[in-house]
Amino acid sequence: MSHNSDPSTVEKNRYTLIDNKTGQTAQFSRINPTYGKPAIDLSGPIDTEKGPAKGGLRAVFQIEAHDPAYKSTSSCLSEITYIDGEEGVLLHRGYNIKDLTQNATYMDVVHLLLEGTLPGATEKEKFEQKMVGAMRVPKVVEHVIRGFDRDDSPMDMLAAAMSAASAKSDDSNPRAVIAQLPAIVAMVIRHQQGKDKFLAPDTTLGFTENFVRMAFADDDGTYKINKVLTESMDKLLILHADHEQNASTSEVRGARSAGSKMAASIAAGVITLAGPLHGGANQKVLEQLEQIANTNPGQSLDEKIAGVIAKAKDPNDDFRLMGFGHRVYKNTDPRATVLKAFVDNLLQELNVKDERLDIAMKLEQAALADPYFKDRKLFPNVDFYSGIAMAAMGMKPELFTLIFAAGRVSGWTAQAEELDRSKQPICRPRQQYVGDAERPVPKR
Ligand code: SDX
Repeated sequence: MSHNSDPSTVEKNRYTLIDNKTGQTAQFSRINPTYGKPAIDLSGPIDTEKGPAKGGLRAVFQIEAHDPAYKSTSSCLSEITYIDGEEGVLLHRGYNIKDLTQNATYMDVVHLLLEGTLPGATEKEKFEQKMVGAMRVPKVVEHVIRGFDRDDSPMDMLAAAMSAASAKSDDSNPRAVIAQLPAIVAMVIRHQQGKDKFLAPDTTLGFTENFVRMAFADDDGTYKINKVLTESMDKLLILHADHEQNASTSEVRGARSAGSKMAASIAAGVITLAGPLHGGANQKVLEQLEQIANTNPGQSLDEKIAGVIAKAKDPNDDFRLMGFGHRVYKNTDPRATVLKAFVDNLLQELNVKDERLDIAMKLEQAALADPYFKDRKLFPNVDFYSGIAMAAMGMKPELFTLIFAAGRVSGWTAQAEELDRSKQPICRPRQQYVGDAERPVPKR
C-alpha cells in the first residue's frame, strides 16, 4: 500500500472543468489523502475566470454532481479507519486489523478508535472500569424489551431500546452508548431465550467478560466464565468495530449532523445495520448454508452447491450469495481471513463439529473458481464466516447481527465524535428532479 506523494494535503487548481457548450471554466482543488484515491474538492473554494468564488460546484458552476449510492463520492475527511479494497487491508488509526486481533483487546481498540492511541496498562484499566460502570440502562429499556414477544426481531428490539435509552440521556456522557448497547444486547438475548432476569455488570470482571455473562448466565447470575468464549467474543467485537463510511455509519453521521443525541443517532445505525445487505447478512449466510444442508436430499453436496451458484449468477433471479461481495473490497476482506482461521480453531477448542463450516468452505471454493464471481471480484466478506463462529459459540442466527452491533457501536461513536469535531454542517444531499412539470389541479 503506497502512501500518496504528499499525503493529507490540498493541491490547488489541479482540475479544470470546462462547459463545452458555454466555454465556462473553473479550477478545482485536489485532496491528497494519506492512502487511497485522491478526490476533486467540489466544496470549494473554486477559482473561476472572475477570481476565487465560494459555495462550491453548485454556486459557482450552476450544476450539481450526480452519484447515486455515492459509489465514487467521499462524504468526509476521516482519521479513524482506512480500507484498501484492492489490497484487502483494514487499518484502525494505522494499525492493521490482523495485528489488533492478535495483540490487542476490544477495549484497547475502543480506546484507539476514540482517542487515536492504544492505551497503556494503567490508562486501559481506568478506561475499562469506566466502560464496565456504564453498562447500565434506564428502567424504561427493560419495559420496552419486555413489551416485545420473545420471537420478535432482536434488531427491532435493540433499535427501540436504544431510542428508549436516548429518552433518558442528555449527552453528558455520549460515550456511554458504547457500554449501554452491549448491555441492551445482553437483555435482548436473555428475553429472546426465555430468561426473566436482566443482570447488572459485575465490577470485578472485564468488559467482554461482563457482556458474555450478562447475556448467557442463568437467571440466578451463576455463570462459569469460559475463557475460549470470552476471547472469541472479544475478537468478534474487534473485527466488527469500525469500517469507514458504510451504510450504518453514514446514517449515524447523518443523524448526528442534525444534532440528534448520541443514543438516538446510534439507533439510526442499528436500524440500518439490520438490513440483510449489510449487517443482517451474517444471519442470512447461516440460513443459506442450512438450506443447502437440508434441501434436495437426493443431490450430492457438490450438486447442491452448483445449484446455489447458478441461482446467484442468474440475472433474472435477485437471489444473492450472502456473505459474498463488498462495495470496497475487491480482494479478500481481511476480517473474513481472520475469521476463517479463528473459526477452525474455535471448533477444535470447543470440540464442536459443524457441517455448515464444511459447506461454507466448499461453497467458497466453488464460487472463487467461477468466472462470474472472479470477474466481479466477489470474495467472502466478514459475514461469511462470522455466523459460523457465533453458531459455534452457541448463538442462534437471529442473534448474530446483535453481536455485530455490539462491536460496531464503538466505531459509530468514534465517527460521530469526529463529525462533531469537524463542525460539518447537516448532511443533506441534493437530487435530480425528473418528475412532472408544474400543472394545475383539475376541477374535481
Ligand atoms: C457488510 O460497507 C461496508 O463496509 C459493510 C460492512 C461493514 O463492516 O460495515 O463490511 C458489512 O455489510 C458486508 C456485506 C454483507 N452483505 C452481503 O454479504 C450481501 C451479499 N452481497 C451483496 O448484496 C453485495 O455484494 C453488496 C451489497 C455487499 C455490495 O453491493 P454493490 O457494491 O452495490 O455491488 P453491486 O450490487 O453493484 O454488484 C455488482 C455486481 C452485480 O452483477 P452485474 O449487475 O454486474 O451483473 O456483482 C453482483 C451483482 O449482481 N453481485 C452478486 C453479489 N454481490 C454482487 N452476485 C451474487 N451474489 C452476491 N453476493
